[in-house]
Amino acid sequence: MAWASFAKLNAASSQWIGQQSFTQRTGSSSSTRFATRRVSVPIRAGAYTEELVKTAKTIASPGRGILAIDESNATCGKRLASIGLDNTETNRQAYRQLLLTTPGLGDYISGAILFEETLYQSTTDGKKFVDCLREENIVPGIKVDKGLVPLPGSNNESWCQGLDGLASRSTEYYKQGARFAKWRTVVSIPCGPSALAVKEAAWGLARYAAISQDNGLVPIVEPEILLDGDHPIERTLEVAEKVWSEVFFYLAENNVVLEGILLKPSMVTPGAEHKEKASPETIAKYTLTMLKRRVPPAVPGIMFLSGGQSEVEATLNLNAMNQAPNPWHVSFSYARALQNTVLKTWQGRPENTEAAQKSLLVRAKANSLAQLGKYSAEGESEEAKKGMFVKGYTY
Ligand code: 13P
Repeated sequence: MAWASFAKLNAASSQWIGQQSFTQRTGSSSSTRFATRRVSVPIRAGAYTEELVKTAKTIASPGRGILAIDESNATCGKRLASIGLDNTETNRQAYRQLLLTTPGLGDYISGAILFEETLYQSTTDGKKFVDCLREENIVPGIKVDKGLVPLPGSNNESWCQGLDGLASRSTEYYKQGARFAKWRTVVSIPCGPSALAVKEAAWGLARYAAISQDNGLVPIVEPEILLDGDHPIERTLEVAEKVWSEVFFYLAENNVVLEGILLKPSMVTPGAEHKEKASPETIAKYTLTMLKRRVPPAVPGIMFLSGGQSEVEATLNLNAMNQAPNPWHVSFSYARALQNTVLKTWQGRPENTEAAQKSLLVRAKANSLAQLGKYSAEGESEEAKKGMFVKGYTY
């Protein structure tokens, strides 16, 4: 079907703009005379396109990155248990309040990913968390996936649930103040990965991205390639290239506007159980090679996950990636690598709140400097150097 009539057919349900025409040459290459025909290039845009592009740009602003605190209640329970606290709503609220009311956080943090419970919570004084964020010029975000379950027919791999009802949930999240979303699926190198698992991960991410954009939320696209395994860095590079090529293939098939998305990749490192560790320079080289081969410059921001690296490691690796200009904003969207010292400092005691907030600012500032390529690990605490890798980690 010609694009023109295809676009017309779809005009009522989806909005298409930019029916730009260009001239395509036809005929044999040896021929000096070319017949020409008109070809239209449709670019999909919904009601929110301009806003999506603006939101993505705000999040990808110089010297800033994302604070990920979107742990499910079960995972938040593990964080609280590590400092001897029960997994109650009151304790989860207290911990999130500490993080989200840190004065000056917006100097280094441009977005915060929340779990659904947190999006609807307020401070003990009755101020909505989303308003605390807005006052710091931090964009509120929301985790929208429903977690991982076994993928039948695969090699013990998993797939990510959450597409059912996603459009209506996203509408509600937008009303509550969320402006971006996150969907995390995983790919396991020791399990294969199988072609089926990679395809399922990529397709799910693309469907989620299209639905999010349709409802005003900038989708963070996160196919986490787990650190698990004893493979060398070259193997991670190979898998990452395969995964990202499939992701971009399906993003295009789903007409996702690349200017209105953000990526959350794993860094390309050797497997956590590989005999040799890689330096930040090597990790930066492999990771940027992979990204340059697979990610169009239309994408505004690359916001890495920390994946079990120590706080200092995650910051050093990010810093190494920003030693020369990149086609995209290269920054962070860390959970464990921003929260570890904070939790240890807090210990659930109100008298430690200020010190814990200061330790959050220390990590946020370090990563802000790393985003600008100006970080030095001098003076970092021993605690911040401790790795946090957990085999088979679930989020
Ligand atoms: P980590 O930085 O702990 O790997 O967090 C990953 C994540 O997806 C949080 O949103």
